[in-house]
Amino acid sequence: MTVQKLSINYKTLEEFKQFREYGLQELSMLEDLQANIIENDSESPFYGIYYGEKLVARMSLYRKDKRFDQYFEPKQDYVELWKLEVIQKYQNKGFGRELVEFAKSFGLPIKTNPRVKSDAFWTKMGFTPVHYNMERDLGENPLVWYPEGVSAQSTEELEA
Ligand code: COA
Repeated sequence: MTVQKLSINYKTLEEFKQFREYGLQELSMLEDLQANIIENDSESPFYGIYYGEKLVARMSLYRKDKRFDQYFEPKQDYVELWKLEVIQKYQNKGFGRELVEFAKSFGLPIKTNPRVKSDAFWTKMGFTPVHYNMERDLGENPLVWYPEGVSAQSTEELEA
């Protein structure tokens, strides 16, 4: 199993249609490609795993700058992980874990905002819910992963 960075091209975008969470992000990538705003094979924020010829799992990673960090102590760059999804037929075979471990390998803290149904999976992956802060987390239920030496940022400042 190897995790690959996915490039934006018609083949990748066609493969994305197999995933349930196919939405604005993918459509805008397709439009950018069609309008020649981006080149074929431009880098995307997506990483995936192929099983044979088939893309069976994917996620999107985005590095956030320290200046915007409201979650971790000490304040630092962190990774936002979203759109983790394994095609149904391929679930429970370790693909999800492989992608999460890849995301952890950068050694940066990770924040994700999963769909409720997958909470048990995230707990298994060592993620914990944040102490909810209304202003910061409005509408989200973030889960985070702390590398060694990193802890939760105090939200008292925000609450004050
Ligand atoms: N609830 C509880 N545990 C789960 C789980 C779930 N929904 N999905 C996976 N796990 C556990 C596995 O049993 C495994 O545990 P183990 O190491 O003790 O054997 C561990 O998490 C890693 O599993 P893995 O095989 O890597 O999971 P996956 O490849 O299926 O990826 C998801 C996990 C959630 C990303 C994937 O199943 C998915 O995309 N699901 C989409 C829809 C969804 O959220 N479904 C939830 C049930 S409706």
